[in-house]
Amino acid sequence: MSDKSGKGLDRRRFLGVAGAGAALSAMPAMAGEGLKPDPKITEVQDWQRYLGDGVAKRPYGMPSKFEKNVVRRDVSWLTASPESSVSFTPLHALDGIITPSGLCFERHHSGIAEIDPADHRLMINGLVEKPLIFTMEDIRRMPRVNRIHFLECAANSGMEWRGAQLNGCQFTHGMIHNLVYTGVTLKTVLNEAGLKPNAKWLMLEGGDAAAMNRSLPLEKALDDVILAFAMNGEALRPEQGYPLRAVIPGWEGNLWVKWLRRIEVGDMPWQTREETSKYTDLLADGRSRKHTFVMDAKSVVTTPSPQAPLRHKGRNVLSGFAWSGRGSVKRVDVSMDGGRNWRTARIDGPVLDKSLVRFYVDFDWNGEELMIQSRAMDSSGYVQPTKDELRKVRGVNSIYHNNGIQTWLVRANGETENVEIS
Ligand code: MTE
Ligand code: CO
Repeated sequence: MSDKSGKGLDRRRFLGVAGAGAALSAMPAMAGEGLKPDPKITEVQDWQRYLGDGVAKRPYGMPSKFEKNVVRRDVSWLTASPESSVSFTPLHALDGIITPSGLCFERHHSGIAEIDPADHRLMINGLVEKPLIFTMEDIRRMPRVNRIHFLECAANSGMEWRGAQLNGCQFTHGMIHNLVYTGVTLKTVLNEAGLKPNAKWLMLEGGDAAAMNRSLPLEKALDDVILAFAMNGEALRPEQGYPLRAVIPGWEGNLWVKWLRRIEVGDMPWQTREETSKYTDLLADGRSRKHTFVMDAKSVVTTPSPQAPLRHKGRNVLSGFAWSGRGSVKRVDVSMDGGRNWRTARIDGPVLDKSLVRFYVDFDWNGEELMIQSRAMDSSGYVQPTKDELRKVRGVNSIYHNNGIQTWLVRANGETENVEIS
């Protein structure tokens, strides 16, 4: 056959592929000691018989159909409407430190605003020398920075204050994501407007139907706040505030105003809904803590966990995340017996300020019950408390800032449950 037409070439390639598959059945490795012939190796598989999709069939890549269960999920009884609600990151199915864009948990007070960037404006007003209105084009022409940070909703683990409740780290810890942001520093933008000497606080306002707003101390604004237009190398997703959101490293997610349309400069906090009736921490004696911005050190084991039980005896990998809003994670300890004995986990991958770190414990499991816990320590010397230690200080009235140590009970059959040790 010396057919030079494209058709002929395709046919030869097809035969070539099938031929390679057929040759596998005679693989000498099959004769190896203790190796049973496996039809998945010895037989030609269906997907080897045909050409796959060519290029441009999938102009925007999606995960394999076999990953269809790795999705954000919500808890239907949690909120009255899906527009003012939350979906959770499937932490049990992820690895490394970066959250894939399509799996980031979402928290909206009035649903997802759909904004054409050409129509979007950011206004700076209040105690400034020169009130300004920026288009997205204006913002993209300012000096850019790239930073990796976690965003944790203050209400993450909020349902667990009075005891173990939700069976899965997606639901107990999934109000967190960790992304690479590209944007401009808020300091650059504020310098352009020029701050008046009595400027002390800013009010950040969103362009969604809630016009969600929060007060931010000027000191933080000038420190490390970014106005981001990109995440993980592409434009922000609509769910994450396209075309512009505030990134407030290490501070509670509520301050990270999405669809950011206005920044007002003032000399005191605005006492908005989100910092008075919400996002304040009700203590046992009825008083409330206000402006509790920082997210303290916290960690969670993601495998094993209720949605990722142990399936094999012998060699296993325990894995999880740790983070701190006060700096970097210095160490993560893991216990398999409910906190009696601890070993230091192996952190692998980048250790960055106010970013998730990934940890592992490579271990052998002989089928005994385990009580798995993890405990984070950060660069400020802070150690993640037990849930009981936390309750002694904070009571159980709060929803927010629950960073207590999580316990997973692994049963002899590998099934794993959310429990508490008292
Ligand atoms: N910004 C606006 N404009 N509207 C909102 O509803 N939700 C806040 C914050 N910014 C919100 C917002 C809350 S409570 C959190 S936890 C984070 O956005 C969630 O960010 P995400 O949806 O990217 O996960
Ligand atoms: Co929130």
